[in-house]
Amino acid sequence: MAEEILRITGGQKLRGEITVQGAKNSALPIMAASMLCSGETVLYNVPRLTDVYAASRILNHLGLRCKIEASAAVINPAGISSAEIPDADMRAMRSSVMFLGPMLGRLKQCVLTMPGGCELGPRPIDLHLDAMRQMGVQIRESQGKIVCTAEHLHGARIPLPIPSVGATENIIMAAVLADGETVLTNAAREPEISDLAAFLNRCGARISGAGEGTVTVSGVESLHGTEYTVMPDRIAAFTWLCACACAGGTVCLSGTAPRDMESSLSVLRAAGCRLGICRDRIYLDGGQSLRSVRYIRTMPYPGFPTDTQALICAVLSTAHGTSMIEETVFESRYKHVGELLRMGADIRVSGRTAVITGVPALHGAELRAMDLRGGAALACAAAGAEGESVLRGLTHLDRGYDNFAETFNSLGGIAKRTAISASEHGKTGLEKRKC
Ligand code: UD1
Repeated sequence: MAEEILRITGGQKLRGEITVQGAKNSALPIMAASMLCSGETVLYNVPRLTDVYAASRILNHLGLRCKIEASAAVINPAGISSAEIPDADMRAMRSSVMFLGPMLGRLKQCVLTMPGGCELGPRPIDLHLDAMRQMGVQIRESQGKIVCTAEHLHGARIPLPIPSVGATENIIMAAVLADGETVLTNAAREPEISDLAAFLNRCGARISGAGEGTVTVSGVESLHGTEYTVMPDRIAAFTWLCACACAGGTVCLSGTAPRDMESSLSVLRAAGCRLGICRDRIYLDGGQSLRSVRYIRTMPYPGFPTDTQALICAVLSTAHGTSMIEETVFESRYKHVGELLRMGADIRVSGRTAVITGVPALHGAELRAMDLRGGAALACAAAGAEGESVLRGLTHLDRGYDNFAETFNSLGGIAKRTAISASEHGKTGLEKRKC
């Protein structure tokens, strides 16, 4: 079977302005939530991603009509008829689990299997299921399927043991049409949760406190459809800033929400990047030499996001001095490190800690994206490396970036996406290079 690769020519300074795509992690739960509405929903600023197409497939499978046109998704819930998500769609992405809450809210039943997504260590859904149980849902396993049914979905006081983003979203979505009030404590506070709540409130829901540790949802009889613009993608924005930090040059990102990015922007500043912020624009001047950042710890929002950990690893690989990163959210999120080592990086990982000693320069290499953000980090590192890199595993990138290569090239980078046949696997022209 043909595989696609990305050839990235390193050392090209990035220059120019781009508008940042809509947020994947907001678009996906909002698409799922649209099934709670009685009328049509039109979403704008929806990024063209394989995960978005997977969500659209699930909606269509359930009997709704979802059409993606350019950057809009039109979702008509009228024909909803099935309460089962096929296993293949569940495996396509982690966000397939985001249909649990809305399906229970709308249909009082949901049959699903374990979701897929990036392999970052164990990713259970126990918190989602426990919360549903507290709202009156019976859950049993049958032939490898998780069968959830509720005669009566009611509000509950739900303290989350850890602030899980997905569980918070599922609870909110299940609660909007449930009887009575739901009070969720130790809720995740990510901006995408506020975006989901803003969408649902626009449809007639009564949610307060989204974006804070305690969220209160008062159940309503029904929701109507609406038009809604998905928030900007803070992780994609950070990716382009890191690409420029690695490659040098000056970029301007428009359509961003800098307020949502404070912790990650402050780390870039600490690494010596000059940043300017003006309303929805972020400027980065990557002309300075980079310096190490003593200690970075990934944390739930508003802390430094785990989704940007791999990207900052790439940046710090050529920073002067030694940096330390502690990954506290996921157990196994350093798969990009082995690939950065192939480029000449000096990084040692022990458990959840990575120690990065900056080297003067990275060199091009044969690379494989092992997960979405790790893949983006390798592309950033390749942009700043000497010589050409070949990046494989592009299906990961396609899950989260709306046309990565085109955006990169519009900033003056050189990335060429090509298909190679099975007989050419391993013959990308770099295999003889000494690393
Ligand atoms: C979401 C994001 C993902 C991001 C992550 C953390 C989406 C589509 N994805 O993922 O990009 O990296 O937040 O910011 O929004 N956990 C359990 N049991 C559960 C649920 C989670 O133990 O039932 C654990 C996870 O294994 C992990 C931690 O909680 O260690 C946080 O996970 P969670 O916030 O739920 O991440 P996701 O919603 O999957």
